[in-house]
Amino acid sequence: GPLAAALDALPKVELHCHLEGTMRPSTLVELAARNGLRLPTSDPTELYRYDSLDGFLEVFWTVQSALGGRDDWARLAHESLLDSAAHGVVHTEAFFTPARHLAAGQDLASVVAGLDEGLAAAEAETGTRCLLICDMDRAFGPEAGRQLVEELVALRRAGSPGVDRVVGVGMDSTELGIDTRTYLPAYDVAGAAGLRLTGHQGENSPASAIAACLDVLGLERIDHGVPVLDDPELVARMAGERVPITVCPTSNVVIAHVVERLEEHPYPRMRAAGLLATVNTDDPALSDLDLGKEYAAVAAAFGYGWDDMVRIALDGVEACWLDDSDKRPLR
Ligand code: HPA
Ligand code: ZN
Repeated sequence: GPLAAALDALPKVELHCHLEGTMRPSTLVELAARNGLRLPTSDPTELYRYDSLDGFLEVFWTVQSALGGRDDWARLAHESLLDSAAHGVVHTEAFFTPARHLAAGQDLASVVAGLDEGLAAAEAETGTRCLLICDMDRAFGPEAGRQLVEELVALRRAGSPGVDRVVGVGMDSTELGIDTRTYLPAYDVAGAAGLRLTGHQGENSPASAIAACLDVLGLERIDHGVPVLDDPELVARMAGERVPITVCPTSNVVIAHVVERLEEHPYPRMRAAGLLATVNTDDPALSDLDLGKEYAAVAAAFGYGWDDMVRIALDGVEACWLDDSDKRPLR
């Protein structure tokens, strides 16, 4: 309808999006063929099927494996930004998760240089800007995470091409059996180097894990954060300090199955509680999504009108990591 079309065109900020999760199905098929990766099916719509977070992560890891080197990262990043810009995204802070590629022998400098090359080209074409967040993959453990951050910090010191685009560090992948606090050494290194700090928590872990992200790890943003309302003290603090939560409502239905239907998602109660809860896509290509569709779905599910959605978009600007002077033109 007309609201959906207007929401697609509304200038928006995307703060929770995995670049690998934006890979076009056609690109996946091409890269897999070129890099000798056997896909379980030649029909990516068949491949992009899963019934739990850990089932989804298997698919995500297959997609990641298709990225064979610098040029593939450049292509992914370029197409990703063109696709998000086509749906009103004007600024994005996007994750990449290189643990698998580093283990397979790629070097972080090439990954970052490739991403920067693709993003710079897309920025010139669209005017949409993209900063990067280097995520630790929790499936590889906290020591691999710390080593990744050390490597990133060394690239910053060396002035490696494109590394200035990486403004933050995060963590993603599985939450099962993970002790959040074990990521303190990694985040300590990142924080000391002046990197911004975020992390996935509360996709299928309790509110206490979110509290540990703030209290122990010193994170300044939380990705997902779904069960926050279970802890009123935590809500009061996060609302009072305007700690951003990058919520991905549709992803929580189709990937993590936190709720069965969007209408049951706690998002409207999070907003009503005064939390700075933004709307994001997570893995749009793997869940048939774009940020315009996500805004329309949120509006429909929770009965939000244009003014509500504009307020949500402005919350995205508040939550992003641009300087105030760079935020002003987005308001
Ligand atoms: N959760 C955890 N890890 C991820 C996700 C997610 O939704 N998407 C890509 N990596
Ligand atoms: Zn995510």
